[in-house]
Amino acid sequence: MKEQQYADFIWWKHGVIYHIYPRSFKDSNNDGIGDLPGIIEKLPYLVDLGVDAIWLSPIYPSPFKDSGYDISDYTAISQDYGDLSDFRLLLNLAHEAEIKVIMDLVMNHTSDQHPWFVESSSSIDNPKRDWYIWKKTKDTNQPNNWKSAFGKSAWEFHEPTQAYYLHSFFKEQPDLNWRKKDMRIQFFKEIEFWLNLGVDGFRLDVINLLGKDRKLRNNPSIFRFLFMEKSWFNRNRPRSYKIVKKLRKLIDKYPNRVLIGEIYNPPPGDSQLVASYLGNGKDSLHMAFDFSLFFKRWEAKKFYKSIEKLQNEIPSKAWPCYVLSNHDLSRGINRFGKNKFEKARVAAMLLLTLRGTPFVYYGEELGMTNISLKRDAIVDPLGKRFWPLYKGRDKSRSPMQWNASIHGGFSYQTPWLPVNENYAFVNVEDQLNIPTSMLNTYKAIIKLRKKSKSLQKGKWKPLIKGDDQIIAYFRTNKDEKLLVVLNFSAKSKEFKLPKGNYFTIYSLLKDFENSKPLNKNFILPPFSGFILKKKTENQ
Ligand code: NOJ
Repeated sequence: MKEQQYADFIWWKHGVIYHIYPRSFKDSNNDGIGDLPGIIEKLPYLVDLGVDAIWLSPIYPSPFKDSGYDISDYTAISQDYGDLSDFRLLLNLAHEAEIKVIMDLVMNHTSDQHPWFVESSSSIDNPKRDWYIWKKTKDTNQPNNWKSAFGKSAWEFHEPTQAYYLHSFFKEQPDLNWRKKDMRIQFFKEIEFWLNLGVDGFRLDVINLLGKDRKLRNNPSIFRFLFMEKSWFNRNRPRSYKIVKKLRKLIDKYPNRVLIGEIYNPPPGDSQLVASYLGNGKDSLHMAFDFSLFFKRWEAKKFYKSIEKLQNEIPSKAWPCYVLSNHDLSRGINRFGKNKFEKARVAAMLLLTLRGTPFVYYGEELGMTNISLKRDAIVDPLGKRFWPLYKGRDKSRSPMQWNASIHGGFSYQTPWLPVNENYAFVNVEDQLNIPTSMLNTYKAIIKLRKKSKSLQKGKWKPLIKGDDQIIAYFRTNKDEKLLVVLNFSAKSKEFKLPKGNYFTIYSLLKDFENSKPLNKNFILPPFSGFILKKKTENQ
């Protein structure tokens, strides 16, 4: 058993979750695409890193119009990644290594190649017609003003049956109709397929979009939305919450599983909305992403404010989570500006010591940065559509950098996206040998977290709220009292220790790592981070 597994250890709350983009993690068969055997091969790496769970972006069969978020079969594995027996093996081996496996689940829409949509679009009286959202209009007018998240109208006219269907994303991703009971029953059966196989949970894609207005009313203009009507008609409707509750009931039949929601809502950073999907803390999602840190400038006060906001909004029986990067946006490190590597360490210490589950996006632990592509190398259809204004999402999806050999050790073949050129010095193999590397920083803090109940589940009490570029907070559990101090600035800062005797248990700067008691006033070097421990009587 792992060190941290005390009796009431709850893996999704007290552990660290690692997000894998399977296409880019490790290619085992040299076709340039990452796959499940590749992930299996790298399980020892994940054990060594110390993560407790992996979340895999979609691995189901798909025409890949939206990188697998357009699923054409919910109970199988895409040939690109392997097959069900590979998945079973991954699940078994991961479980043996005490790593849980979370799948991505897209409930808002399917691929237009999914047999349900093929049937639904075959005629207006097909029994599955209403499994999707169809609307006939008298003339060729669009049914309403709803926009696709990927630009233009959310309605596509279907010539053969002379009606529009709704697609909140690409037109190849028609929205399911969650008012249809028979569809829900079938969908839930397919979810149970994975639960019975032993999958530990789901990351739920745009889960707040499931409920749509029955009357398909127009959305307010952005002006009205911001200042008058605080609601959209194509998301966050009561039905979204209802389905989430039903899903929770389903998943609660299986012990120890988790539901993590992606709440997609412009403008981002509405912690109150995110928290609303956690219900009373027991009856809805276990966790939901609040992306506000994605949109903050590197300023301690701004970071602090969004953390505080989330902590305050989360119902007392529910649990927060934090994330700095994912497959849709720029890598965190690229948003930090000048001195990004130094800042990324401070951000890592923050992520791994807050009260809430940390999500680490593959490569973040190395300081992997965005790639930049010429127009003809872009793969993401969104990038193709909006280039040069927006170059799409490929930038944060490049292959994992394992070593300094060809293609970063990801594959011997040309990968589906190029490896970042910096792989020669940003890679796992080299960083493992450098004590002060980003990877060893992540490993060390994760290790510390495993040994400390305060970090895993303790109370969070702020001491310095971002003033003068410093964030400091206590994490306490029973008689263990830790103090985390972070200097966001490129300048040295003076810091006054609170009452009591403290010693350093971890410092981002190796010279400062010692267990000597600290002076009352101590100088925080630029971009430093300390985890201090208060001395108790028996220490
Ligand atoms: C959110 C996912 O993270 C993104 O990659 C995808 O394109 C949309 N949902 C649609 O499924």
